[in-house]
Amino acid sequence: MLRWTVILAGLGTIALLLAACGAGEPGSSEAESGQAADPVEVEKTLDELLAVADVDRGKRLYLQCRACHSLEKGGSHKVGPNLYGFFGQPAGWAEDFSYSDALKESEIVWTPETLDKWLARPSEFLPGNRMVFVGVRRPTDRASLIAFLQQQTGANR
Ligand code: HEC
Repeated sequence: MLRWTVILAGLGTIALLLAACGAGEPGSSEAESGQAADPVEVEKTLDELLAVADVDRGKRLYLQCRACHSLEKGGSHKVGPNLYGFFGQPAGWAEDFSYSDALKESEIVWTPETLDKWLARPSEFLPGNRMVFVGVRRPTDRASLIAFLQQQTGANR
């Protein structure tokens, strides 16, 4: 029981739980050693992270974006563009928003994958862009934020 608690406390996601399921077998001591408990160390694909994304956490993380972005259909632009309907669109697609040349000429198309890279560190992903935002460090947090944005901006409809 204690082992499960420790693993869950470490924000273990499916792979960790699977690892723990095999922990009864000889030789599979990774989960017991505790070394697998740091989620930052565990490499997962974005799809895997999205499958277990925490939309409520995404909603809280969005508070970092809210000063600059509205999400609802017909919402007004702020410092940054309204994001309704942006999934699947080329970067810089809102006609009445004044983007940086870097973003307009970037040829980025907004998918969960490109958004994940953008949100990790916008200044590195696309030098010269005008979004003043340091980035979201943890992959699990980015996935939660992306899942929330998909839900709120009409991506799944
Ligand atoms: C300080 C204001 C600010 C914050 C905070 C901010 N953004 Fe932005 N965002 C901008 C600006 C300005 C642009 C346009 C950048 C450009 O033209 O280079 C932008 C662009 C974007 C785009 C591209 C939109 C398009 O139409 O191509 C996305 C997606 C985006 N932001 C998502 C986010 C998310 C998600 C967050 C929160 C984690 C966030 N932003 C935080 C100001 C901000």
